[in-house]
Amino acid sequence: MDAVSKTSPATAKLSVGEQSWDLPVLSGTIGPDVIDIGKLYGQTGMFTYDPGFTSTASCESQITYIDGDAGVLLYRGYPIEQLAENGDFLETCYLLLYGELPTAAQKADFDYRVTRHTMVHEQMSRFFHGFRRDAHPMAVMVASVGALSAFYHDSTDISDPQQRMIASIRMIAKMPTLAAMAYKYNIGQPFVYPQNDLDYASNFLRMCFSVPCEEYKANPILSRAIDRIFILHADHEQNASTSTVRLAGSSGANPFACVAAGIACLWGPAHGGANEAALKMLGEIGSVDRIPEFIKRAKDKNDPFRLMGFGHRVYKNYDPRAKIMQRTCHEVLGELGIKDDPLLDIAVELERIALQDEYFIERKLYPNIDFYSGITLRALGFPTSMFTVLFALARAVGWIGQWKEMIEDPGQRIGRPRQLYTGAAQRDYVPIARRK
Ligand code: ACO
Repeated sequence: MDAVSKTSPATAKLSVGEQSWDLPVLSGTIGPDVIDIGKLYGQTGMFTYDPGFTSTASCESQITYIDGDAGVLLYRGYPIEQLAENGDFLETCYLLLYGELPTAAQKADFDYRVTRHTMVHEQMSRFFHGFRRDAHPMAVMVASVGALSAFYHDSTDISDPQQRMIASIRMIAKMPTLAAMAYKYNIGQPFVYPQNDLDYASNFLRMCFSVPCEEYKANPILSRAIDRIFILHADHEQNASTSTVRLAGSSGANPFACVAAGIACLWGPAHGGANEAALKMLGEIGSVDRIPEFIKRAKDKNDPFRLMGFGHRVYKNYDPRAKIMQRTCHEVLGELGIKDDPLLDIAVELERIALQDEYFIERKLYPNIDFYSGITLRALGFPTSMFTVLFALARAVGWIGQWKEMIEDPGQRIGRPRQLYTGAAQRDYVPIARRK
């Protein structure tokens, strides 16, 4: 990727004591300008300090744009609502990887290529059998995705564009197979091979929920719902796991190893694990009449309780994905004939009350994607331990797309943050007999 940012006529001035420096300002297509501090250390002998990277752009990217104040999410310029409404997940994958929506012929070719890579090496199934049955499926995913690099040596040369693309296709194609295997292994059922005449989502649901002794019929409404959930999770610019993938990849590590690092990062409850926490919280609330008690607790600074599925580092408005997720949730429950899900009733009422409450309004706390996704995934038949696995499955395309973009950036260098050192100053070694 060639840099397309433009140097703005404006400059930023940094003054420290008597000295001052002019720093270039760069403009992207949309979004805030950035102050280019790449030469700051050379010029000033100082680093910048930004733990948690709240004000730091770590790269230039053309893939995903978020306007957190307006509640906007664009993949390659297209609003998430339009993609989720009109397209399918593989179309979104194509868009994220290639930058443009596919023509009909390109789409058919892409679907064919992904479908023909869905099987995993047969030896992988024996690799799975080394795990304890009660292993968390995320532990299995970290290991099995990392292990792909031991099986597909012909797509680990990151300097070869063709191998990079094959690795990307393999990643998208094999994630559902590995995720379903992690689930089947955990519940003690036989692995189900992919079936190539099914669409991506139906194939995944079949690999999870069919058994060899019964016919499985895909339900198009449920397949569409899971496909839409995958679209919503496909990418989210430089979040923690994506930044992890980029940092791992910046050293030249192979793509499977980098995505395994991303999965490890996603596993944490502050990132991919929040939908599980939101579902648990709705269960704890238990009934609509207990909502005020929990709202009160969420507002109490002496109580560590927070409304899970509410608030977001970037969105200070309604998360656009949460609206689509809410609709999908109603569709899934309707299709499954679940007329009264007490957790959904609690969620709807909790959202209504919170959105009228000064505390949440002032702090711009709105439901995020995780608020309704747990209820939906549970209704689809997934145990909570699989929620983050589904997130990883969908995010794999974002990770690999961002990794590819980074490798193809001619200015790419190893990522190496600096630090503000506050440890001991230099001192001399003391032999053990003389230590107190
Ligand atoms: N419930 C109650 N109060 C909240 C909540 C919440 N869910 N979220 C934020 N606040 C309050 C904070 O207490 C703080 O109040 P104060 O200004 O009076 O001190 C204010 O809102 C700002 O909160 P921060 O923690 O500074 O916001 P930050 O951007 O760092 O955190 C986060 C964002 C971590 C998502 C937070 O909103 C949260 O913990 N939410 C619940 C967990 C969750 O749903 N995570 C999913 C994120 S989406 C994803 O990863 C896919």
